[in-house]
Amino acid sequence: MTESFSHFAEFYDEFMVKLVDYPAWVEYVISIWDFFNIKPQIVLDLACGTGIPSIILLKKGYQVIGVDKSSEMLKIFRKKIAENEILKSKLLLIESDITNFTLDILVDACVSFYDSINYLLTEEDLEKCFSLVYKFLKKGGIFTFDMNTIFVLEKFWGNNTFVRESESLKTIWENRFDKKLNISTLYLKCYQKNNQESFLEVHKERGYEYKTIIKILKKTGFQKIKLFQHLTFLPARKNSLRIMVVALK
Ligand SMILES: C[S@@+](CC[C@H](N)C(=O)[O-])C[C@H]1O[C@@H](n2cnc3c(N)ncnc32)[C@H](O)[C@@H]1O
Repeated sequence: MTESFSHFAEFYDEFMVKLVDYPAWVEYVISIWDFFNIKPQIVLDLACGTGIPSIILLKKGYQVIGVDKSSEMLKIFRKKIAENEILKSKLLLIESDITNFTLDILVDACVSFYDSINYLLTEEDLEKCFSLVYKFLKKGGIFTFDMNTIFVLEKFWGNNTFVRESESLKTIWENRFDKKLNISTLYLKCYQKNNQESFLEVHKERGYEYKTIIKILKKTGFQKIKLFQHLTFLPARKNSLRIMVVALK
């Protein structure tokens, strides 16, 4: 068994670009910035991973600071832009935990895509992360992150098993939901097609009550907070599958 994303990193893009409409997700964030009349230049991407959303932002002209604790995910990110001097000149990557990082400058916006914040499994870690975002955001800055809801982790992932395949991997996604902790544990079994080798990664995501997310954001200093159903400007509902949290400094 390996650390989450350490082995899967190599295959991450192969799967995720099929599962997620990243360009639409990034456009949605930009539409939120527009809605609040914010025109960011420097964007902090928390848990940037292999950089799929960061690279879309870089190509649109934003400067990006990416933070992720997985050296393997960051390695793929660096490889993808290794030959693009323009993009490289606008990017800073920091290998660090999102509950414990530091920046030398303040940013205009902070984003986090694709459930990354669900990987924080305690309220204390959420608070540490949100406090740092508050600290490094300019006044008037905006923080947006999407989250899986308790509803989707319990009702859709539940104790279900999914089989997915890409060009190089056959994978089995076995989920176990802990109702007491609202934590979903994913046992991701991967079989490589080219060499018959296999590996197992364990991923844990926690769902949070909306009132808890708001409470912690307020505690860390954020005043104006909105929870939308993801990809809309409608209020988040109890049975939303994914929500977008927006907090303004
Ligand atoms: C589902 S991936 C999302 C990656 C990227 N945001 C995207 O949209 O493709 C989750 C990422 O969160 C990172 N991650 C999880 N917990 C973290 C933590 N405490 N600190 C830093 N990165 C973390 C993982 O290494 C992984 O790259």
